Amino acid sequence: MTDLNTPDLPGHPFIAYQSGELMAEGLALSALAREHGTPLFVYSKAAMLSALAAYQRGFAGRKAQICYAMKANSSLAVLQVFADAGCGFDIVSAGELARVMAAGGDPAKVIFSGVGKSRAEMKQALQIGIGCFNVESEAELDVLSDVAMSLGKKAPVSLRVNPNVDPKTHPYISTGLKGNKFGIAHESAVQVYQHAASLPGLSVVGIDCHIGSQITEVTPYLDAMDRILDLVADIEKAGVPIHHIDFGGGLGINYNGDTPPAADALWAQLLAKLDARGYGQRQLMIEPGRSLVGNAGVCLTEVVFTKPGEQKNFCIVDAAMNDLPRPAMYEAFHHIVPLQARTGEAVTYDVVGPICESGDWLGRDRPLVVQAGDVLAVLSAGAYCMSMASNYNTRGRAAEVLVDGTQAHLIRQRESAFDTFALEQLV
Ligand code: LLP
Repeated sequence: MTDLNTPDLPGHPFIAYQSGELMAEGLALSALAREHGTPLFVYSKAAMLSALAAYQRGFAGRKAQICYAMKANSSLAVLQVFADAGCGFDIVSAGELARVMAAGGDPAKVIFSGVGKSRAEMKQALQIGIGCFNVESEAELDVLSDVAMSLGKKAPVSLRVNPNVDPKTHPYISTGLKGNKFGIAHESAVQVYQHAASLPGLSVVGIDCHIGSQITEVTPYLDAMDRILDLVADIEKAGVPIHHIDFGGGLGINYNGDTPPAADALWAQLLAKLDARGYGQRQLMIEPGRSLVGNAGVCLTEVVFTKPGEQKNFCIVDAAMNDLPRPAMYEAFHHIVPLQARTGEAVTYDVVGPICESGDWLGRDRPLVVQAGDVLAVLSAGAYCMSMASNYNTRGRAAEVLVDGTQAHLIRQRESAFDTFALEQLV
């Protein structure tokens, strides 16, 4: 039976109530909150590996490399879990590359995306020997060739082509439409490939696209695939062989009744199309981020005060928009649930943080039975939360714990106020 206090948590297979206590795998979250304090991010290793397994099942028998888009959650131990499971990484900065190396990732399985790579970043990535640069403009091609030549190397490149399909998601996270800053226009792709092939410091190895994030339908992927395969045919006809095809990331998760396809179901459809069009044996790559970690994590936060208002009641918690920026940035919905069932009359609250901005809210109009001192869990907090966290209001970033069965590993210490200004100097 579902009650308001201890609802089922759809999409969170390893985070569930047992006898009224919210557990991550075999551990009570209330015990972790007591031990490590709040706000606290808690991740389930099994949830990450089971999300990855859905992709692995989908690609069984195929030549495919999964490159985890680490911008979703770049904490070292999270990267380690995916590196140990055979993943490569999709990076967007030299900083992310440094994290991959620190976590024991294989640089040969790294692809470097992003519209504004600097010369210094290109140089570093070439010296470390990454697998591929996903290039987003002609200017970038010229500079990359130049940097590679100066090192006596050839940079492996793939061009990110903009398939111009609507992923039907939030405008801030749709990236494959005309008018986005990303990628090379479909119409000019063949000509840009010919240019790339003519540059002495480059070796063309692939094609890639990424149409957006939190995609919950199959159709945009199928449409993008058709557009990309049309191009592969044209590019190869023009004399430039394409070794791998990278379909980007973007698969959504269940935040609030969203029903994205499972990764293996999505890929069954996509692979059927690839087979039908004769590309089934190509080397494939994907760059999933959110779908590997989003529902593997929660953020625990303590109720500081409840504050009845004239129009609204506020539940003021110790996590804020600096820890969980998605509601403030995208009006994103995250479920907020108690760690322990409590009986009583539910009150409708706006759950807000202590930051001095009206935009500092985590959830609106949430019926909760709470009092000060209770700990709540903000769900679906594994992706784009800690990796987007800031020190606004000189708030140290939260601690992080990785749960593995009945073991809890503190994978990031809580930042102190001193840590937040350690690099500053008085004049
Ligand atoms: N590949 C590229 C080139 C990307 O730009 C992204 C995400 C991904 C892969 C991974 O996409 P995913 O599988 O995670 O959807 N901060 C926003 C999401 C921004 C996504 C940016 N690019 C959010 O919190 O919703």
